[in-house]
Amino acid sequence: MEIVIRPSAEAAADLVARVIARELWNNPRLVIGLAAGRTMESVYARLAEMHREEGLDFSACRTFNLDEYVGLPSTHKNSYRHYMNRHLFLQVNINLQNTHLPDGLASDFDAECAGYEKLITQCGGIDLQLLGIGNNGHLGFNEPPSAFNSRTRVKVLSPATREQNELLFEGPDQVPHCAITMGVKTILECRRCLLLATGEDKAAIVAKAVEGPITSMISATALQIHPECTVVLDEAAGSQLTESGYYRWVFENRPEWAIFRTPSSAEAISGFHPERPIEKQPGKQIVEPAN
Ligand code: GLP
Repeated sequence: MEIVIRPSAEAAADLVARVIARELWNNPRLVIGLAAGRTMESVYARLAEMHREEGLDFSACRTFNLDEYVGLPSTHKNSYRHYMNRHLFLQVNINLQNTHLPDGLASDFDAECAGYEKLITQCGGIDLQLLGIGNNGHLGFNEPPSAFNSRTRVKVLSPATREQNELLFEGPDQVPHCAITMGVKTILECRRCLLLATGEDKAAIVAKAVEGPITSMISATALQIHPECTVVLDEAAGSQLTESGYYRWVFENRPEWAIFRTPSSAEAISGFHPERPIEKQPGKQIVEPAN
């Protein structure tokens, strides 16, 4: 697991968008796992901007969202399908037929969940999974406790989660009681995980998720055993980490992060372009930190 701390929420979202863009430039048929939530809105806004201004091409990629509320039609303004259409899909040149979310109105939920897993497998698995984190440490809607070998299924939402998401609904009783969510194992099978958390509200749970003991009571702790996971934070969300000095040093010194250290610029964006593959950028050797 690698932890990157950026000066602001905007800079953190910008970095996440640029990581996604880089992978998409390198592989136009990328299978991307997506997440909903307020934190992701600025990531999607940035991706839409890159599409408009830099020609970032979504036409061949496929997407799978982490979760969807049970009982909401896709036209409901709080459904995650509606969220994704509004914030990303209708802002870029993605083929809507290549965008997948669980169906919260399915007549047979077991079949829907099994079918979702099968479709992910048929598409070759998820290359890059974008993740947020709930205040209780859930990924998707993997409420505590969630088995680390769980797959896509219906999960009953905890009171804390319903309360956290209540602001977007017309009242507490309007928040659905259940959701279909990818399981923890589904997430762990993605080739790369990219978690974004911003704001002071997330600082305590981020510290537990990243530096605390692994437990099914905090599904985000499962990412500690993922072979390729990057956690991107703003200063506020990273404020309770004990090893933040080390994380900052790694980010400043690893050659892989070189083009991401400065805010977006024409030069950084051109680094994504296939005519100038990022692997050919001059690297920097890691040097030991001064005591
Ligand atoms: C919901 C989603 C999660 C998301 C979380 C955080 O519960 N199911 O996938 O990570 O919200 O949302 P926010 O970004 O609004 O804090």
